Amino acid sequence: MRTLIKRALTSESAQESITIKGWVRTRRDSKAFSFLEMNDGSCLANIQCIADAGIPGYDDVAKMTTGAAVGITGKLIESPGKGQKWEIQATALELIGESPEDYPLQKKGHTPEFMRSISHLRPRANLYGAVFRMRSRMSQAVNRFFDERDFTYVHTPIITASDCEGAGEMFRVTTQDPASDKPQKPENDFFKKSTYLTVSGQLEGEAYATALSNIYTFGPTFRAENSNTTRHACEFWMIEPEMAFCDLEGDMDLAEEFVKYLVQDALDNNEGDLEIFNKFVDKGLIERLKHVAKKPFQRVTYTEAVEILQNSGQTFEYPVEWGINLQSEHERYLTEEHFNCPTTVYNYPKSVKPFYMRTNDDGKTVTAMDLLVPGIGEIVGGAQREERMDVLQANMKEHNLSEEDYWWYMDLRKYGTCPHAGFGMGFERMLMFVTGMKNIRDVIPFARTPGSCEF
Ligand code: 4AD
Ligand code: MG
Repeated sequence: MRTLIKRALTSESAQESITIKGWVRTRRDSKAFSFLEMNDGSCLANIQCIADAGIPGYDDVAKMTTGAAVGITGKLIESPGKGQKWEIQATALELIGESPEDYPLQKKGHTPEFMRSISHLRPRANLYGAVFRMRSRMSQAVNRFFDERDFTYVHTPIITASDCEGAGEMFRVTTQDPASDKPQKPENDFFKKSTYLTVSGQLEGEAYATALSNIYTFGPTFRAENSNTTRHACEFWMIEPEMAFCDLEGDMDLAEEFVKYLVQDALDNNEGDLEIFNKFVDKGLIERLKHVAKKPFQRVTYTEAVEILQNSGQTFEYPVEWGINLQSEHERYLTEEHFNCPTTVYNYPKSVKPFYMRTNDDGKTVTAMDLLVPGIGEIVGGAQREERMDVLQANMKEHNLSEEDYWWYMDLRKYGTCPHAGFGMGFERMLMFVTGMKNIRDVIPFARTPGSCEF
């Protein structure tokens, strides 16, 4: 519809007959004609169509109820009525698919919980249509950002034998039949070893960065995390750039630039969708996004962050002391209350971070960084990687990882090792940030969360 109308408006033959196909949002009848509000999901706006009684197809007008699929042929004319600039003066109607009266989206004002229970129909609602168009445009912007900077897009595997994050949150991939009498051993399985769905493409990304310099991955990621929060999904998409000859500083620079780019892109290309979020989801959204796009972010070390939290006078559920992993409440205090802008925290204690991060000279901290944003907390997590073979070996030992399993990862240090760094951005968390949506389940077409795998 968007393309059709654009074309009709720009062509000299605007008076030519056009056909649109879409779904009826509402219909109003009077004796001599009917108004049909049509939408095909390509943009937020409906187009109003006026159909005089007696035109071909008008006999079916009573069946053109909310949700019905309808084709309308007619002319685009300047609307004499209020509320819209253009309307279609129909010359013919076609009922394509009826929508019986139990159509769940007839009534407005459903709760997000109810909408999740009809995830197959909810993209037809204005708000969700806007969310998923935004998701599409953000995906394009991700690829554009990296393409403009000459990063190579690498497709890392989805089935893997290595646990990148070491957090034990992996889904097992097996073809073994639990009902079979055969012993359920890894060596009897499809790959002759234990395999899982990937929690991160980073390790494979490092292999490509130490060959092609700047790369990124953008794909699905799986975590069997049993945390039923508004920010965790079991299946989500992650964007992971990895840069050879890059240190933590360069890594933080890229992460901040990336967040700003995506926010600016959302502001520039919102085509009306941002306004619906601003109106119905989060009244301060557009103002906040403009602020984020313009203002520099803050950076603090973990040690400074701990001091800020300890001196805050706040009571936290998880008390703050040097060495703890920052919890969501701490992250949100820093970014929402203290700095009131996106904030990068870096140089975390070694003990709370994975094996691959580079040990700092103090021996206690690693070159980790997390980018925190108001309303959500961590949106990006990354690090400069340990490129020194002996230090990496020692780290692996501390994490009880066998060098044998990671032989190929060690090879990257054996042959032409170099400083390199990267990060992972949770795509859905970024989407929550630019749409104001409060629950990650509402920015994923069909969300997978603990205890739920419908659709
Ligand atoms: O901080 P994480 O666990 O970092 C990594 O996986 C690194 N290997 C990335 C890298 O350096 N290449 O995850 C990165 C980001 C988080 O900051 C968060 O935004 C998102 O992924 N994330 C999730 N998003 C939704 N649901 C979950 N369960 C998530 N877990 C992490
Ligand atoms: Mg993290």
